[in-house]
Amino acid sequence: MRVGVLTGGGDCPGLNAVIRAVVRKGVRTHGFEFVGYRDGWKGPLEGLTMELGIQECRGILPRGGTILGSSRTNPFKIDGGVEKIKENLAADGVDALVAIGGEDTLGVATKLADLGVHVVGVPKTIDNDLSGTDFTFGFDTAVNIATEAIDRLHTTAESHHRVLVVEVMGRHAGWIALHAGIAGGASAVLIPEQPFDIEALCQQVEDRFKTRYAPIIVVSEGAVPAEGGDMTVASGEKDAFGHVRLGGIGDRIANEIEQRTGKEARAVVLGHIQRGGTPTAFDRWLATRFGLQAADAVADGDWGTMMALRGTKIIRVPLSEGTAELKVVSPEEYAEAQVFFG
Ligand code: F6P
Repeated sequence: MRVGVLTGGGDCPGLNAVIRAVVRKGVRTHGFEFVGYRDGWKGPLEGLTMELGIQECRGILPRGGTILGSSRTNPFKIDGGVEKIKENLAADGVDALVAIGGEDTLGVATKLADLGVHVVGVPKTIDNDLSGTDFTFGFDTAVNIATEAIDRLHTTAESHHRVLVVEVMGRHAGWIALHAGIAGGASAVLIPEQPFDIEALCQQVEDRFKTRYAPIIVVSEGAVPAEGGDMTVASGEKDAFGHVRLGGIGDRIANEIEQRTGKEARAVVLGHIQRGGTPTAFDRWLATRFGLQAADAVADGDWGTMMALRGTKIIRVPLSEGTAELKVVSPEEYAEAQVFFG
């Protein structure tokens, strides 16, 4: 069997570990041949391929990013896009596709599977917002990077008696903020799921200054004030899946805190640092296991499934289950962290 592999959406640490594992298991156990499709769905859409075999995957396990490249191309937004993909797969002699991506990439995979394309999915995103799986790979690395940043910010904040506001990614889910905030001992964590009260936040800032410590506020890029208002948007331009670019809430909060409390407050935006570089051991382990299972799913002809972590097991769930709804932080999970605020 000839199998195409693609990586779509925002890159994340662990993508290369999946590619390596799919190829290794596919070649050695199932006798597959592989074709790499470049830049997400743009690859099969425009016939952009690269060689992909065991040799091409040597040395990529600890490398961040993706050797295949990525994009946010949506074939359903392009006239004749789906037909073009089907034609190119046939021309390349490709019988099946392994699509590695988040909500958007796997959303496309779900629709293509319904249209008869032989596709299996592997869930990735630093945001950890895909339902159907306990964790996506990339998340652990992002949380570790954010935690290390918070650890470093504590000492400089204390030296200068400043408030430091750390803005992290996550889009509409507060997982990175919550996990890194708890791990880093933040004075407050603001997430999109729980609109924040700026007055209460300022009180927590004042309370923290009564100790010998300085406040570190972790804010998810999608957080919103309780008194109303939209998410802070860095660019109103929408991508092919209708997402605007979030960013800027950290600065807004730092300004508010400074005005209301008179304490100096600065914002630090971690941005793409959270997505780049080498994956943690956990992410390499998870990505590798997803890749091994995806090769088996192809061998079984289990089309339209997504690999998922449940406890310590990797299972297959319908792709539609993985993309049906966003997995967000529950009020109970957020409440657990609140005892540390202030
Ligand atoms: O979905 C991953 C993610 O990093 C989000 O946390 C963030 O909002 C978005 O992608 C940023 O995307 P881009 O790099 O395309 O601006």
